[in-house]
Amino acid sequence: MSVSLVILAAGQGSRMLSDMPKVLHLLAGVPLVLHAMRAARTLEPARVAVVTGHGGAQVAQVVQAEDDTAIIVTQSEQLGTAHAVAQARAALEGQAGDVVVLYGDTPFIRPETLQAMLAARASHDLVVLGFDAADPGRYGRLVTDGDRLERIVEFKDATGAERAITLCNSGVLCADRALLFDLISEVGNDNAAGEYYLTDIVALARARGLSAGVVRCAEAETLGINTRAELASAEAAFQARARAEALENGVTLSAPETVIFAQDTVIGRDALVEPYVVFGPGVTVESGATIRAFSHLEGAHVSRGAIVGPYARLRPGAELAEDVRIGNFVEVKAAQIDEGAKVNHLSYVGDAHVGAGANLGAGTVTCNYDGVFKHRTEIGAGAFIGSSTMLVAPVRVGAGAVTGSGSVITQDVADGALALGRARQETRPGLGRRLMDRLRATKAARGKG
Ligand code: UD1
Ligand code: MG
Repeated sequence: MSVSLVILAAGQGSRMLSDMPKVLHLLAGVPLVLHAMRAARTLEPARVAVVTGHGGAQVAQVVQAEDDTAIIVTQSEQLGTAHAVAQARAALEGQAGDVVVLYGDTPFIRPETLQAMLAARASHDLVVLGFDAADPGRYGRLVTDGDRLERIVEFKDATGAERAITLCNSGVLCADRALLFDLISEVGNDNAAGEYYLTDIVALARARGLSAGVVRCAEAETLGINTRAELASAEAAFQARARAEALENGVTLSAPETVIFAQDTVIGRDALVEPYVVFGPGVTVESGATIRAFSHLEGAHVSRGAIVGPYARLRPGAELAEDVRIGNFVEVKAAQIDEGAKVNHLSYVGDAHVGAGANLGAGTVTCNYDGVFKHRTEIGAGAFIGSSTMLVAPVRVGAGAVTGSGSVITQDVADGALALGRARQETRPGLGRRLMDRLRATKAARGKG
């Protein structure tokens, strides 16, 4: 059955005290709103509508970079969660199947939980995700009769007896699209907050003799982010889970509590990650690779047997083949490094292709930027680049070619050639000592004066 998503992300998030929309704050290196979208990806949604308000254009950019088919709808006034979902009506018009409503500020809902909700739709017209709250606080309360959900009452409108209920509303729900929008059109705002509550659709459905059910999840899944402190503790919770998962998957972490993962980090079995490694978004490390201490990786792929660091930086588009060595204080960006090639010390390799088994000496720099354009460097298989070679791109060094240390290479080097691009050395016998003697004498004369 086909599924569509409505992700609510119009709230200002005023408690973040931020100029940036709340849902764009990063958790595990990824904007909050994308966590909800990615959790729902396993449902293979036919359409995704994201309801934006504050900072809508910025949110749209991030959402559409993730999924260019996502539809951005605008809620210019935040009149409540039912009003927010109603804004997506036109975007989902004619769509067959269910709609799942998610919040853009609630990043930990698991794909399995969403699957369970869809499965529960087999027995109910409307399914709400609930949880048993340790401290129910201001959450909406789920009023049940056995395993049937009768209605949801918001905290502000609840009686003392209803406030004693600990089964709470996560905000996630699902129903057939046509039914959902039909019910929403009946929702009013005659309540303590003067808002259009999405939660009212449960009682409206029951009044029509339809059935509503609850799927329960752990409270941790429904954690919403409202403040910087909540964002920080969500980050800590994410990292703790990611470290535990890596260990369970057979990754060696010599100091797990010092390693930072991103939402989408993939690390193969028997990989070794040393202390204080940071994974930004989009990193895959294959089995048996080693990431040594204090390295920073982002948008990079590290193949089997490769060794990276210590103190290495892999930036987006760094593609390391098997058994590559990237050593200390080396930065790699948008570069394919073929099997067994070595860049071991103090180098910058950007917009480049390094052939198999090539060796780049200490201090090699691909001078890729002329101030306006970026240019490519090609280094052939088995080439030997002497220490402190400046490769002024666009330039190509052929297979098996050699460059002399300290060369500035501005012209292509043919396969197997030796290129020297540096001033010839001149040596004057005895001049060094004479020069120093003269300088010392000058200093001594000044001291007396
Ligand atoms: C809502 C639920 C409550 C539930 C709680 C869980 C309603 C009426 N109440 O309450 O039962 O326990 O979430 O966290 O649904 N939003 C919009 N436009 C609006 C209003 C809200 O996009 O006009 C978005 C917000 O940005 C947020 C989400 O919807 O992501 C929930 O809104 P919020 O104001 O936090 O609802 P709560 O009062 O917490
Ligand atoms: Mg809330």
